[in-house]
Amino acid sequence: MDDIKYTPSQPQVLTYDANKDYGTPRSDSDVMVTLNIDGVDVTVPEGTSIMHAAQLGGVTVPKLCATDSLEAFGSCRLCLVEIEGRRGYPASCTTPVASGIKVKTQTPKLADVRRGVMELYISDHPLDCLTCATNGDCELQDMAGAVGLREVRYGYDGENHLGQAKDESNPYFTFDPSKCIVCSRCVRACEETQGTFALTIQGRGFESKVSPGNQNFLESECVSCGACVQACPTATLIEKTVIEAGTPEHSVTTTCAYCGVGCSFDAEMKGEEVVRMTPTKDGGANHGHSCVKGRFAWGYATHADRITTPMIRKSIQDPWQKVGWDEAINYAASEIKRIQAKYGKDAVGGITSSRCTNEEVYVTQKLIRAVFGSNNVDTCARVCHSPTGYGLKQTLGESAGTQTFDSVMKSDVIFVMGANPTDGHPVFGSLMKRRLREGAKLIVADPRAIDLVENSPHIRADYHLNLRPGSNVALISALAHVVVTEGLVKEDFVKERCEWDSFVAWRDFVAKPENSPESLAKDLGLDPQKVREAARLFATGGNAAIYYGLGVTEHSQGSTTVMGIANLAMATGNIGREGVGVNPLRGQNNVQGSCDMGSMPHEFPGYRHVSDNETRALFEAAWGVPLSADPGLRIPNMLDLAAEGSFKAVYCVGEDIAQSDPDTQHVTHALENMECVIVQDLFLNETAKFAHVFFPGASFLEKNGTFTNAERRISPVRKVMTPKNGLREDGKHEAGLEDWEITAKFSEALGYPMHYSHASDIMDEIAALTPTFKGVSFKKLDELGSIQWPCNDEAPAGTPTMHVEEFVRGKGKFFITQYVPTTERVNLKFPLILTTGRILSQYNVGAQTRRTENVVWHPEDKIEIHPHDAEDRGILEGDWVGVTSRAGQTVLRAKITERVQPGVVYTTFHHPESGANVITTDNSDWATNCPEYKVTAVQVTKVNQLSEWQKDYRTFSDTQIELSGMDPQTVVS
Ligand code: SF4
Ligand code: SF4
Ligand code: SF4
Ligand code: FES
Repeated sequence: MDDIKYTPSQPQVLTYDANKDYGTPRSDSDVMVTLNIDGVDVTVPEGTSIMHAAQLGGVTVPKLCATDSLEAFGSCRLCLVEIEGRRGYPASCTTPVASGIKVKTQTPKLADVRRGVMELYISDHPLDCLTCATNGDCELQDMAGAVGLREVRYGYDGENHLGQAKDESNPYFTFDPSKCIVCSRCVRACEETQGTFALTIQGRGFESKVSPGNQNFLESECVSCGACVQACPTATLIEKTVIEAGTPEHSVTTTCAYCGVGCSFDAEMKGEEVVRMTPTKDGGANHGHSCVKGRFAWGYATHADRITTPMIRKSIQDPWQKVGWDEAINYAASEIKRIQAKYGKDAVGGITSSRCTNEEVYVTQKLIRAVFGSNNVDTCARVCHSPTGYGLKQTLGESAGTQTFDSVMKSDVIFVMGANPTDGHPVFGSLMKRRLREGAKLIVADPRAIDLVENSPHIRADYHLNLRPGSNVALISALAHVVVTEGLVKEDFVKERCEWDSFVAWRDFVAKPENSPESLAKDLGLDPQKVREAARLFATGGNAAIYYGLGVTEHSQGSTTVMGIANLAMATGNIGREGVGVNPLRGQNNVQGSCDMGSMPHEFPGYRHVSDNETRALFEAAWGVPLSADPGLRIPNMLDLAAEGSFKAVYCVGEDIAQSDPDTQHVTHALENMECVIVQDLFLNETAKFAHVFFPGASFLEKNGTFTNAERRISPVRKVMTPKNGLREDGKHEAGLEDWEITAKFSEALGYPMHYSHASDIMDEIAALTPTFKGVSFKKLDELGSIQWPCNDEAPAGTPTMHVEEFVRGKGKFFITQYVPTTERVNLKFPLILTTGRILSQYNVGAQTRRTENVVWHPEDKIEIHPHDAEDRGILEGDWVGVTSRAGQTVLRAKITERVQPGVVYTTFHHPESGANVITTDNSDWATNCPEYKVTAVQVTKVNQLSEWQKDYRTFSDTQIELSGMDPQTVVS
């Protein structure tokens, strides 16, 4: 045969087909090796297995225990080959290629051995293929065919594993041990891919069996990521939806609508029904991995609580009327016109959400700027990552993270500050854990012992800086002080890449004695020596990368800390290449994108200030209307003015400010004061209970668009089913609309038609008006799968790492970060500090995840309290406790744990009735107004009934659900 493939002179022909399983992971060696497989010369990277090389050469070797997402294991003996000059039959999955060897994958002897192996497997396997849920999608079945197995000589009379009880405890998948071939793929997937180590093979030989630690899956360490289900070659581990619906018929690649990791999924469908969501093997952010939310928790999209018919009412005491789209949209438009005529154009505004697609955010901000006539548009990033936008723009010149997720695999030191990746960004958390198991060092700065500190197998933080909540700036200054005073600054980098004057000013500032770890020890509550050691490790340990989250931004000095983080990265030369960088872990799926799309009141798309004449002229020409040069109202300004009575209407798309924003009572009072609240959402959320118009939105499965994740990766969202539609009161059905269509119709009703026929038209407009998106189109996304912006003429395929040659602003700029303690202090009345966070199984306000089986893991929010603080107050595990702050009181169940330090309590905020935001104050970041969610002085006492707020909430909520025509007993709250 000809030498046709993969020659050294053509290394570029090593193209991979994501639909193929190459059996073992690919090698990234630059050294190429040529071998001969079944007569064909194949040239592959050194370190490639013979199995993988054969597959690249077009030859498929039978296999069972091997799959290319896992390291080779070599247990099934099905993949044996013959190598000329070598004795025996080596397993092709565990044998690496060698130069010049000649391999045979098909000989009569090999065929005999393989049939023998398969015969043994099949003789201990239920022969119920025709009724098995994975019939036609089972590797065991495929291999029986591939090796030509025609008969099984051994009957079921002897010992076997048939008839063992299924484990159905996990809500999403079953484990049927009678079908297990003990290939260990699940065990390895749990270890290598997920990093949870929940599974083991117990026993030896015939007694070997897979076990989630002698308990059922639900009670085990399992976090329900689905990696084992994905890896299982038989029907042993299988999704319950596949058992119920049968194998899927077609699939569409789309993007998870939950967190900022932005995992790519194949929505596997039967008609318009999703059968399962399978993580896409070549997904740029997830490489075939997933977490419990994206993999399994998509049932909310078709939940009975969905509102699918437009609704209107005059007052929030009135029952909702279900009407047609035209009536609802015209009513909303007439209200906006009436209110603007009466109170002025600035009396109305809009709020977009990071749950929306880029295209939806873009048309919403366009509607507000071009049609409402003001810049009164804001987004939920206001309450999460607005300090990131500000701080990184000031220092580096671009409001975005600097790296790809994969970059962490080249980090030597990982500094996690105020983030909890294993819960908040689980797929990236798994990747980070993999790097840590390989030996990277870990510094965690968090008041609470997150899982990475010591609760993840084979991982232990080298330094856990469990600082006092609110002292982030002091910590960053103390770390910088050590770097500067101990001569650890990378001066060459700073001289070449940064503004020297700004560096000198910063250096002199942090070098002051008052910024030493010793001077700041009391504020930090940390051993200064530990801070010094952590700083030295960060500055000298090789590639050091910083990952941070809301524990950094949601403070009165959130922007200052972000700038301090950038200072530290620049001073130590840790920016502009792989393995380093400043990486904000964005909470929701499209926080990055919604900010990119101009959802803030002072910026057009692409972070260009509204006062910039050239930019404004560009948008005025494109949109054909004059635009305001004055920054509009931020969410807190809108709410303050509404409470005072001068802000009268809001168009709220996909955001639930009544639950997610701080000081709930202030928010609800502001909403009550407005004359027209228009909510566009899937459910009657907390804000919608104060609304006058409800536009039923479409779920991510029902629309086209794009999301941009935390690594600036723009990924496609694709419609796999038509938007839901409901019955109007006149008995008519109308088609549902994608969210951008609703906004466009609303705009038309206000006298400004938007001429888009598809979401891709909106992206084309974004690309035409936004330099960093110039090269982005749906067509290119289809070709490349995803694109990291900037994507333009200089970087047509996108930009994985930013600031490589120079910073976006030219020279990096250091800023002085003076520590100013928050005004939210403890005292005798409020002696504890409450801080908040999230949990793996739930997402944000929980509107989606509470409507899935994920509630089995987190049915309620609890307050974590240290045993000493609990004992002082006579609080026992599970007691109801009142949590009282200067803003309000709520009641939660106590969880006693040493994860929090004495003096600190912690809760999540996924259930509306928990009222976590009833107690958070209206303190906020000095630069961006991002609320100080992470520091609230509270008292915690034992109580035996709900708070007054909770009682009022329950009554109001039930009334509102009834007014919408639903039953409070069945609606998820
Ligand atoms: S679902 Fe994930 S965590 Fe659970 S056992 Fe499987 S791989 Fe491990
Ligand atoms: S459960 Fe599946 S993956 Fe795990 S050992 Fe059994 S057959 Fe292999
Ligand atoms: S929630 Fe985040 S980590 Fe989980 S599947 Fe979705 S995007 Fe991935
Ligand atoms: S696939 Fe190689 S031993 Fe199982």
